[in-house]
Amino acid sequence: MWAAGPRQAPMAANPAVPFSPIAADVLNGLSSTPKRLPPRLFYDDAGSALFEQITKLPEYYLTRTERAIFEQHGTEIVEAAAGQGALTMVELGAGSAEKTGVLIDRALRRNLALTYEPVDVSRAALSSAASQLAARWPELPVRPLAADYANGFRLVPNGAHRRLVLWIGSSMGNFEHTEVVRILRNVRRHLHAGEGLLVGADLAPGKSKQVDVVRAAYNDRSGVTARFNLNLLARINRELGGNFDLAAFRHVAEWNPQASAMQIYVQSVRAQQVAIRALGLRVRFLAGERIHTENSYKYAPRQLAAILRSAGFEPRQGWHDERKWFAVMLARAA
Ligand code: AVJ
Repeated sequence: MWAAGPRQAPMAANPAVPFSPIAADVLNGLSSTPKRLPPRLFYDDAGSALFEQITKLPEYYLTRTERAIFEQHGTEIVEAAAGQGALTMVELGAGSAEKTGVLIDRALRRNLALTYEPVDVSRAALSSAASQLAARWPELPVRPLAADYANGFRLVPNGAHRRLVLWIGSSMGNFEHTEVVRILRNVRRHLHAGEGLLVGADLAPGKSKQVDVVRAAYNDRSGVTARFNLNLLARINRELGGNFDLAAFRHVAEWNPQASAMQIYVQSVRAQQVAIRALGLRVRFLAGERIHTENSYKYAPRQLAAILRSAGFEPRQGWHDERKWFAVMLARAA
């Protein structure tokens, strides 16, 4: 690991900097060639707030497009998932659960007996989602689960309820295809045949969507996405005693047609060294060297269906917006 990249000079770790759960990710990622940091590190409190801002940007069509699909087809979606009986919605990476409110609303309007189970690593996100929901629907049973769904978790049956697992918001787009299949197989293992999965995925550019539309969504004019990306470095400074100079790095987001993904980097504008006190690590950067911080995969509908099938699900129905920019697909455990 050490021999692969530019030499990293060890330093004495400073015990005054408390242990941080991001330490291992940062040490591994910045010691790798090429350098990388996993996108889950974006979401500290500052990063989560910046992501909320992203979802409201004029260029970032994903959130509002998925919401429009739910508003238009939500009743049909929940009816297809619930059949006649009671329904438990389990949401992976629920976050603020804002868009899910549309589906909850549609289920309750149809008088379905509904339970909502948000799954998220962030206890803060879970408790704020739970109190928002309680304010709007005091009668709705909410059973939050603090877990990292990407690293294995258990789904518990809820009596006679049929379950619908939601993995929406293009969250799967951050994972490699093999990872997506692994995560979904774990979900499948906990479901009974016939129970449901609803995924929301951003569609690949093509006839219906210009590639510039996708590029612009990650290169917004107001620079919020850049701040979101660079917040990773600020977070390392805060939590690990790093001395990244944020002005010496820039946000880069490129469309990679082979991967069918937006690829996001933090790029060093000059040759420089950065020290990270809590890790006892000095990291060297060449001028123009990048840290790969995120892939955001975009799918063809057929590819999406193939991924679901290889994880043990049978695609049943798909919906998209009028412009065919974003897709929602309902599948059932085969
Ligand atoms: C939260 C993974 C859906 O890939 O569009 C937004 C994250 N990164 N802008 C996405 C993100 C930069 C987002 N997801």
